[in-house]
Amino acid sequence: MAALNRRNFVCGIAAIAALGLTKGKAVAATGVTTVKGKTVIDLAVNKALNKVGGVLELSIAKYGKIAVVRTSTGVTGYSVINLQCPHQGAIVKKSSAGWSCPPPRGHGAEFALNGAVKVGPATDGLRSIKFTATKKAVTIA
Ligand code: FES
Repeated sequence: MAALNRRNFVCGIAAIAALGLTKGKAVAATGVTTVKGKTVIDLAVNKALNKVGGVLELSIAKYGKIAVVRTSTGVTGYSVINLQCPHQGAIVKKSSAGWSCPPPRGHGAEFALNGAVKVGPATDGLRSIKFTATKKAVTIA
């Protein structure tokens, strides 16, 4: 039996991710381009957004770390949210139920998947970012 080398290990992990066995986790974006200053996310290669509850994380110069969340099956059924906590600016992390703002930088706030605040000390939800969507792409201005 052949030994498992680094390349095969990495390919195996990619295959597991492609099969959707990372359910409930945020997925790093691929197929992201900038067109006339707008960020365009190709939905054909970002399969995490095929299902309601899917999450894609990426960083863009204008907003920093953001997430695209599939909120419904409609063509525009997404939320695009800034992952900087509105309390004191820590970056929130994906949790099983949405987003949390853990110590040491955060103070325990919790947010729904669409960014709505659930538990303080934050008093506002994660900031929404304007976008447009088609069957092929989500575009962030
Ligand atoms: S910075 Fe997020 S709860 Fe304080």
